[in-house]
Amino acid sequence: MNILEDLMNEHRTVLGRLNLLEEVEAGDDATWALETVRGVAEFLEQDLELHLQKEEKLLFPALAQRIGEDGPIRVMLAEHVEMREGTKELGRLGGQPELTESDLAAVGDFVELVRGHIDKEDHILFPIAQRELPGPVLEELGGKAAALTLEEAQ
Ligand SMILES: [Fe+2]
Ligand SMILES: [Fe+2]
Repeated sequence: MNILEDLMNEHRTVLGRLNLLEEVEAGDDATWALETVRGVAEFLEQDLELHLQKEEKLLFPALAQRIGEDGPIRVMLAEHVEMREGTKELGRLGGQPELTESDLAAVGDFVELVRGHIDKEDHILFPIAQRELPGPVLEELGGKAAALTLEEAQ
């Protein structure tokens, strides 16, 4: 599979979890909210982390050879740092006895950060990659991405 298709499929899965977090912000069931935050944080620690590693170890280095490391790639990497911090914070929030208003605001900020990141990749970076990298290279990277495991990548 073309690595861009794989990564975009994963984006859609992550967006589904972000929608859940949004329901946490809007909802009034405190127990469900905490369980949901915990569950989403666990998912992100595993699945989002592996996704970020696929980009950092496979797609970005290949693309950097064509467009350089500055510009969009640097911006994406900086956002990965923020997303990892946000994921850690989400796990911490989920471990509390209850969520305060400011916790809910932090959840909202995190949702916005990750949605914005995905939007930039789907609509700016990945189209550049599709144009700059030959099809067989994108397929080969897809094969490597499928073989990458979190354990291996750590
Ligand atoms: Fe990314
Ligand atoms: Fe991504």
